[in-house]
Amino acid sequence: MADQKQLQGENQNEFTGEIVVASRIVDYLSSGLYKSPAACLKELINNSYDADATEVNVFVKPDADRIIIEDNGCGMDRADFEKHFKRISESYKRQESDETESGRPKIGKIGIGFIAANEICDVMEIRSTKKGSTELLEVSIRFDLMRKDIEERRRNQGEVAKGDYQGTVSKTDQESHFTQIFLTNIRGEAQVILAGVADNEFVSGKKALYGLSAESTAKILTEKDIKTWNEFDAYSKNILEIGLNVPVQYYKEWIPENLRPKVRDVVKEASSLNFRVHIDGSEIRKPIVYNHSTNNLISRFNFKGEHVSARGYFYAQDSAIKPQELQGVLIRIRNAAVGEYDSSFLNFTSSIGPLFQSWISGEIMADDRLEEAMNIDRRTLRISHPAYVELQKALHNHIANLIKQVRSEIYGTRNQERNVGKAKDVARKIIEVAEKEVASISPKAANNMKNAWSDTTRWKTNQKSILRKFTVDQLYRIVVEIAEEILEPEQLDKFLSRLTDRIKK
Ligand SMILES: Nc1ncnc2c1ncn2[C@@H]1O[C@H](COP(=O)(O)OP(=O)(O)O)[C@@H](O)[C@H]1O
Ligand SMILES: [Mg+2]
Repeated sequence: MADQKQLQGENQNEFTGEIVVASRIVDYLSSGLYKSPAACLKELINNSYDADATEVNVFVKPDADRIIIEDNGCGMDRADFEKHFKRISESYKRQESDETESGRPKIGKIGIGFIAANEICDVMEIRSTKKGSTELLEVSIRFDLMRKDIEERRRNQGEVAKGDYQGTVSKTDQESHFTQIFLTNIRGEAQVILAGVADNEFVSGKKALYGLSAESTAKILTEKDIKTWNEFDAYSKNILEIGLNVPVQYYKEWIPENLRPKVRDVVKEASSLNFRVHIDGSEIRKPIVYNHSTNNLISRFNFKGEHVSARGYFYAQDSAIKPQELQGVLIRIRNAAVGEYDSSFLNFTSSIGPLFQSWISGEIMADDRLEEAMNIDRRTLRISHPAYVELQKALHNHIANLIKQVRSEIYGTRNQERNVGKAKDVARKIIEVAEKEVASISPKAANNMKNAWSDTTRWKTNQKSILRKFTVDQLYRIVVEIAEEILEPEQLDKFLSRLTDRIKK
């Protein structure tokens, strides 16, 4: 007994404190920015990435009213925790270096990602340890306290207390390094994603990705009939949103095979980050899948300006991109997305109208100078910032040229392909007439008709004649010309009056 007590006294080191948020940040936190579970989870996943994790596992546990995020990253100790949480005002992440030990450009910059979790849960627990340290940090943060009367929570200079924390430090082995985050007492919109786990496609009528392998997910995303992500249940939609934002890999089949060589470097770059995220056992990839069309092209973007540099690709096809969430341009900085796809291409206005714009989807990776134009919400950019202005101009030039290319290469061939289809259709109908209506009167005539129009080796010339359109006067001219050659005047008389009656009917 005595031994145990002593051990506890030696091993355990308890601490408590209050989280205070700088006034500058208070409004952002209560603005509802992180209400969506995806918005909050992507912050936590990007934190794991910044901690050099190679694996992140997220578990959504509706029964326990819990979401767990665990990573094999560098971890944190009490000092790291308290430095950040005692007073949330900024990120210290890039103080020493803006790259992680393994060379990743760090995504975190603003210092509010962690506390964003307060929007979706009442209690957040952290368990973490660093490599080379025997310290196991366990802290519990009560966010529900922040929802008490604002007057009770006000601190100095407009700062606001956002909750209390209570922690212990105990011993663990030196080698392990990880961070586990438990979000409990889930609230608000996040409840819906918990419910989504139990959702069943047949019951909800919505498509579900829960528990599917990467291959199966890719297959569903390739289904032509998905117009929008709203066809998925809330849980799945959140997963798609997360996948779009965080630095995970592409699906193998994401782009038509003929174009893969043109974006090999993009795929390679994403996979070289060596970052894998699983949610409830399913690996999350970028939900960008275009494999619907064979009439397509890739146009590469490469811009070096005075205020910003950026590179990327644009994919275009001969019909609107589906699902519509992929129409437009997605900007990434340091491998993380800034907001969603912008279908206006940073307010591009073209005289050709929005038709071709909906055929284009692209990603642009901008350098750090654009980060300075990024608002605290990490979703929007300040449109007056010189880096934004310059990128916008370069992008608009590129899109204008791309639309021309799409018009001539893709729209042109699409019309051609359409005509081939139409001509085949008409040929089929002619053969039908020959067989059903002519064959019984004259088998020979029916055969001639069939032979004349079924010759597929001469499609180009056949196609033109088969799709010809006649006005009534032209029809008369042809018929009269031939009838004159063959019929007696009396027969011609009868024939033409019957023909007139027929056409007028
Ligand atoms: N998964 C994690 N592993 C290790 N440290 C973490 C993790 N998540 C957060 N941290 C620490 O908490 C700090 C605050 O995170 P956050 O609020 O997202 O701000 P930022 O990412 O902008 O620094 C980070 O700078 C980091 O030191
Ligand atoms: Mg962060």
